[in-house]
Amino acid sequence: MTDQPREQWATRTGFLLAAIGSAVGLGNIWRFPAIAYGNGGGAFLLPYLVALLTAGIPLLIMEYSIGRKYRMSPPAALRRMSRPVEAIGWWQVVISFVIATYYAVIIAWAVRYVGFSFGQQWGDDPEAFLFADFLRAPDTPGFMDGYVPGIVWPLIAVWIVVLVILAFGVRRGIERANKLFIPLLAVLFVALVIRSLTLDGAAAGLDALFSPDWSELGNGSVWVAAYGQIFFSLSIGFGIMVTYASYLGRRADLTGSAMVAGFANSSFEILAGIGVFATLGYLATAAGVGVDEVAGAGIGLAFVAFPAVISEMPLGGLFGVLFFCSLVIAGLSSLISIVQVVVSAVQDRTGMRRMPAVFGVGGLVALVSILFFPTESGIFLLDASDHFINQYGIALASLVALVVIAWVLRQLPALQQNADATSAIRLGHWWRICLGVITPLVLGWMMVDSLRAEFEENYEGYSTGFLLSAGWSVAIGALLVGVILTLMPWPAGGEDIDLDMEAPADRKDV
Ligand code: ALA
Repeated sequence: MTDQPREQWATRTGFLLAAIGSAVGLGNIWRFPAIAYGNGGGAFLLPYLVALLTAGIPLLIMEYSIGRKYRMSPPAALRRMSRPVEAIGWWQVVISFVIATYYAVIIAWAVRYVGFSFGQQWGDDPEAFLFADFLRAPDTPGFMDGYVPGIVWPLIAVWIVVLVILAFGVRRGIERANKLFIPLLAVLFVALVIRSLTLDGAAAGLDALFSPDWSELGNGSVWVAAYGQIFFSLSIGFGIMVTYASYLGRRADLTGSAMVAGFANSSFEILAGIGVFATLGYLATAAGVGVDEVAGAGIGLAFVAFPAVISEMPLGGLFGVLFFCSLVIAGLSSLISIVQVVVSAVQDRTGMRRMPAVFGVGGLVALVSILFFPTESGIFLLDASDHFINQYGIALASLVALVVIAWVLRQLPALQQNADATSAIRLGHWWRICLGVITPLVLGWMMVDSLRAEFEENYEGYSTGFLLSAGWSVAIGALLVGVILTLMPWPAGGEDIDLDMEAPADRKDV
């Protein structure tokens, strides 16, 4: 086992940049604009804001507080709280494992699209190019059909970058990488948004995004979508923030940091919405059609609508490079945080050193990703895993964690005290009400609502056999593997670590 003291962030800014880097990701750039547009446009901002204030920021504070208090990744931290609760921690680690395997693939596509942007290689039909030429997707999903070399090599490159950064450790690897990534991302993205706002038809796009359809507020699924977006986007519910906060010093201001990270993420998200819809407004105006005809969801928005715009506009290649580079950078800083959860969970439980943990455990995540996803049916596997792990992984694990922490173990007052002890802003009753009552109720409702939808109609019209093997099995498997990892006899190493040790005196307390 290791006799090394736990690493610590060098500065508060370093921690904040890493937390923002984790939050700002693929979810902000292509998920948010499509979700906001599909759920009431401007009216979506109200449930979104409610979700941010009642669930997002309160949960961030709770996760920071657990991580900083126990100075361990989720399984070991929750075990410290109460032994059986370790299972929720492992469940979250397996969820992170699954997300990392497909998240890397979207970054690999974006890497290729940086190159495609130069010569606008998608030609006149970006949709056919994406699905038929680039992804080589069959009409109906299969399993382990042929590999697509054009995705394999950028995917291997993405994994090498991520593992090398992680191998340098928290301070020299993650913190330094984010100090480079986040300012770079901000510059690229601001340039992109300014350019998009100067395009003809930008106003039509913004009008489409922000025109409120207030009647949608009475629709339960709009609220469910808002809460789902906040969880994925803020990186809460899959152990990341507990892990990152476990490298904080004893005196870090938790509540202030959560507010900064939460509002920075949402500002970036709304900026992304503005940039994406201003651009779609240009495309619609050029084609003489409504914005609704050019706005696709998720993958379609980034990899079909954007290439179409790039082909239309002057200096489109440069615009494409800016957009896809932003996607790559935002994705990498989030992927690093997701893999760190898995690496640090194994390290904490076994006492393994960083290098073998990064290349052994992180390498296993990379191997699964490379084996399953750069295949012809990879896009379908990705879509099904993403849907099921979000609904019955992140959201369900968060619901269980909240009920256990708030109601079974009654730990909220202790965590509140822990956060208040070092934060300029003090948490009031509202914090406990949000976490103990409002968020569990909304999450419970979310479960019922999405299960009802699942049984009414097969997700995306996929066959039941495919959904059972690529969706349900992934979500249920994550829980089962989490339980198995809890029951597994781990080497004694991690268990004996002195969890209450103070930060070494020579370290700056951030
Ligand atoms: N929070 C990350 C994202 O938005 C996972 O993509």
